[in-house]
Amino acid sequence: MASDNRTTEHTQSVDGRTALVTGASAGIGRATALALAAKGADVALLARSTEELSSLAGEIDSRYPGDALAVECDVQNPGRVEEAIETTVEEFDGLDIVVCNTGTTGAGFEDRLEQQSLDDYHQVVETNINGTFYTTSAALPYLREANGNIIFVGSSAGKLPRPGNPVYAASKWWMRGFALSVEAHVGRDGVAVTLLNPTAVRTDMWRDKLDRGQAAEPEEVAAQVINAAEQPPHSTLSEIDLFRRDMLGTFVPEEIDLSIPFDRNGDDR
Ligand SMILES: NC(=O)c1ccc[n+]([C@@H]2O[C@H](COP(=O)([O-])OP(=O)(O)OC[C@H]3O[C@@H](n4cnc5c(N)ncnc54)[C@H](OP(=O)(O)O)[C@@H]3O)[C@@H](O)[C@H]2O)c1
Repeated sequence: MASDNRTTEHTQSVDGRTALVTGASAGIGRATALALAAKGADVALLARSTEELSSLAGEIDSRYPGDALAVECDVQNPGRVEEAIETTVEEFDGLDIVVCNTGTTGAGFEDRLEQQSLDDYHQVVETNINGTFYTTSAALPYLREANGNIIFVGSSAGKLPRPGNPVYAASKWWMRGFALSVEAHVGRDGVAVTLLNPTAVRTDMWRDKLDRGQAAEPEEVAAQVINAAEQPPHSTLSEIDLFRRDMLGTFVPEEIDLSIPFDRNGDDR
């Protein structure tokens, strides 16, 4: 399939650029890799599940103009992350776009935070926080050379308090602080940093609990990754909240009437 992407004064095509997607074997990462390849990017696919990666690489190579490279990589291992990025740079002669997408909610806990095991806590921290740091740190020298983009897949759970799984939520609050700070750190070097915060997305993360229509589809998140990567070189889409219209209402009980914000006799509530 030929690509029809063009760079204009107001956009920067991803056609011909090199992208690297962590957590590419499933869900949002898989959809993002396909969307980038459909737009003509060469894509390095990182995750631990080698069979899924090989099959995705085969699909990309047979359907799209860009090439795919499957690279086994556990983001908890900083040496392996560095090697995976170097392999990508050698294969495609540079690196322009990095999507830090890998994430886990952990097994969670039945009812109370104190039931979460230490092992589970470490899984979430080492994947979502350490993995994000290792990937960013190893990729930035190449992104500086390319005036590239780094796009973090955060979460609405990293912006708003919510009752479930505080450790996962806090890892996403960390990611938000990191992404916005890195944006300030590398902006003058020409690197664009985007934080993308979806509400629920229908992926394996929900273990079949969501039917189509109850959450966003991974392709909607992928479309926003493309949107961020296609900004012209002087601009950054700093933060994108991809919220379902019906989801944020859950933070306010339905019986509370928000239609009158204050008492007109001056007695503010
Ligand atoms: N689904 C949602 O409702 C939702 C909402 C907001 C934000 N997000 C965020 O979106 C991102 C993607 O989630 P998803 O819903 O697409 O989840 P998913 O379908 O469970 O996919 C997770 C991906 O991360 C990879 N991964 C997990 N641990 C890894 C590790 N240690 N090293 C390397 N890769 C690892 C998995 O691959 P392997 O197992 O093959 O390694 C898989 O490719 C996450 O950061 C998540 O927090 C999800």
